[in-house]
Amino acid sequence: MKRMLSGIKPTGQLTLGNYIGALRNFVKYQDEYDLYVFIANLHCITVYNDPKELRKNLKDCVALYLACGLDPEKCCIFLQSDVMEHAQLGFIMCCNTYLGELNRMTQFKDKLAKGEQGLSGGIYTYPALMSADILMYDADYVPVGEDQKQHVELCRDTAIRFNNRYGKSFNIPEPVVPKVGAKIMSLSDPTKKMSKSEQTNKGCIYLLDDLKSVRKKIMSAKTDDVAKVQFDPENQPGISNLMSIVSALTNQSFEEITDMFNGKGYGDFKKYVADVVCDELSKIQERYNHIIENDIIEDVLAKGKAKAQIIAHKKLDQIQRTIGIEIR
Ligand code: TYM
Repeated sequence: MKRMLSGIKPTGQLTLGNYIGALRNFVKYQDEYDLYVFIANLHCITVYNDPKELRKNLKDCVALYLACGLDPEKCCIFLQSDVMEHAQLGFIMCCNTYLGELNRMTQFKDKLAKGEQGLSGGIYTYPALMSADILMYDADYVPVGEDQKQHVELCRDTAIRFNNRYGKSFNIPEPVVPKVGAKIMSLSDPTKKMSKSEQTNKGCIYLLDDLKSVRKKIMSAKTDDVAKVQFDPENQPGISNLMSIVSALTNQSFEEITDMFNGKGYGDFKKYVADVVCDELSKIQERYNHIIENDIIEDVLAKGKAKAQIIAHKKLDQIQRTIGIEIR
């Protein structure tokens, strides 16, 4: 069975973008692959988080993994920092990644371009830690949204170089990006990615938002004056984004959605989008409440840690011998 690995960094509440671009697909893959899904809590601290809030977000992230359908009997769910080998292999990968490569990462470049102040060293080197996360488990596939593809490609380049230098040490992973919904855009500014760190809340749907506000956000989503429901991201980014959301959640093709709303207004279409999204979220939220009440999170993480640790321990030992830092 091929191995697959991915993670989410809960620096805030998980969003509909995380769900459509990543989480929802993990659930589909757990039957077909040897799946490892972790909570990237070391990645979270590359920016400051209020510790209390962070703890709550981590817990919610596990609960949402389960609520969205990940089954700890079928896949390994763990907290990144529970497997301490990640940080150590992260440093090794950092030493095998060039400054020039890190400088080219668009997420980092965007932050610099926006003039963000007080950026940490961690935010600059985090793609190397992400390489370690993936290579530790010799993952074959890494399911991610569009914005993380560049990091998986960097991981591949680093692994190939490492193998050339030291002999075959790592499996070379491939990114898996969904055909529809790989980049869900903000509802209020559909030229920007829907993101946890958005300034105003209007453009971002969180999985735990109350459904009334979800409906409100969708009904006030930015559209255009073309007055036709059709997939044209260049000229109709708002409508195309809503179509992607619907298509990802219902498996309807863009043509089917266009036909469905032929001759109808954007109001009708938005109402349909809101119904589809609220239907999906209400099921997730119901399961989330049940999981929180039953307090099963620590058990799930303990089980995941035990399984992941065995692989990580062996891999780190092998790599440390390979590069010559062990004296035994
Ligand atoms: P993060 O937490 O930013 O995002 C988690 C996953 O959600 C996807 N995603 C989106 N997909 C579609 N539309 C959006 N608007 C949207 N926003 C987010 C992301 O592409 C990602 O797949 N560095 C990673 C976490 C990580 C990781 C790893 C992932 C750490 N180590 C190893 C894979 C393998 C991150 O910050 O993702």
